[in-house]
Formats: sequence, C-alpha cells, structure tokens
Amino acid sequence: MGIEEAKRAAGQKAAEFIQQGMIVGLGTGSTAVHFIDALIERHKTGLHIQTVASSRSSAEQASKGGLRVLDLNEAPRVDITVDGADEIDSQKRMIKGGGGAHTREKILAAASTEMIVIVDESKIVSRLGKRNLPVEILFYGSPSTRRKIEALGYKGKWRLNSDGSLFITENGNALFDIEFVSLLTEPEYDHKQLIQIPGVVDTGFFFGLAGRIVVGFSDGRTEIR
Ligand code: 5RP
Repeated sequence: MGIEEAKRAAGQKAAEFIQQGMIVGLGTGSTAVHFIDALIERHKTGLHIQTVASSRSSAEQASKGGLRVLDLNEAPRVDITVDGADEIDSQKRMIKGGGGAHTREKILAAASTEMIVIVDESKIVSRLGKRNLPVEILFYGSPSTRRKIEALGYKGKWRLNSDGSLFITENGNALFDIEFVSLLTEPEYDHKQLIQIPGVVDTGFFFGLAGRIVVGFSDGRTEIR
C-alpha cells in the first residue's frame, strides 16, 4: 500500500458525501481520478447526479463512465466540487495547479456550495511554498509579464511539456511556475502582488474556498478535517 492507495481512499470517501440529484463539480488530477471512478461506480448502482468538469480529461472520464457532464455556463448550480491540492495548510489555504487547471478549478470551486478537498497525507504542510506556484499568463505580452513578476523578486520558469514544447492551458494561456526560495509567511501578500500584474490571469493560491478536507493514508484510512 502506498500513495496511490491513499489517493484512492480519499477519493472514495468523498464520493460517499454525494447525494441523489446533486450537481457535482469534478476536479482534475490523479486524486480526482479516483473520486470520479468512485462516482461512476455509485452511478452504476443507482446514484443519479449531473456533473460539471474543470478539465477535458475529467469531462472525458465522467462521460465515458456514463455520467452526464454539464457546461458550467448552463448548470443551474453546483452543490459540491471535489478536487485535489498540491499543498494545504492548517488554515485550509492551498497551492493548486500541478495539473495546469487551477484557473478553471478555482472558478468551479467558487461557484459551488462546498469544495471538498481530497489529499493524501503528503499534501498537508505547516507552511505553503515548498511546491511551485503555477501562475497562468496570457500569451499577449508574456515576456513583459514575466519581467514584472521577476522584478518583484520571484523566480521561476515557463512550464514545458515532456517533449520540450510550451505547455498551454485549456484557456490557451502559458503557465509560469514560481519556485519560492523559502516557505511562505503570508501567501495572501504574494497572491496580491502577482494578481495585480496585467497579463496574470490567476495564481494557484486558493484561499477561503476549501470546506471539508478528506485526508487519505497509505493504509487505506481516511480522516475528515
Ligand atoms: C490540477 C490540480 C490538482 O488538483 C493538484 O495538482 C493535485 O493533483 P494530484 O491529485 O494529481 O496530486 O490542482 O490543476
């Protein structure tokens, strides 16, 4: 048993919170995959729900499994969104976007009555900033946007695909991954600094969005926080 078991346990536990008739937001990433699998299993045994996806891959997985996928612009509401995180602290502040979908994930979470976060124990941190912070950036003027970020003292690099080509988000933008030199004391300050730069679409910081946290452990246990 290992990290995959922890992710699966968290995803399966979160699926237990989904009730008949709900509209469910689907996050993105390797933990969210387990949640969507568990929803598909529940759907086969009579759970009727509709979903809204934060990415093409989650939409494809859900619709292949027989779940109805709505466009967020047409959904009357979203009851619960379930999504993973790269890091989460005791104040439920998060860094997300390892999968490059954080802008849509944040819009979906903010549109939902509750965001349930599913993580394995390695994602729980006392301070954010060990992992890179993804920042989504419009291509138009992107070298100048990058210079403005660097002028504030942040260092990072454009996200690339495994073949060396530039990673492009589903919104058609670039991602600049900031590497922090030390752990963060006030991530809200860093977010404010970055978001005011013209060309920055959004950062991977999530504040005030997480509701229940489902933590999965490698022995298959889960804890709700
Ligand atoms: C994608 C995300 C993911 O939720 C985050 O990267 C965690 O992914 P994983 O569950 O694969 O560890 O924010 O944009």
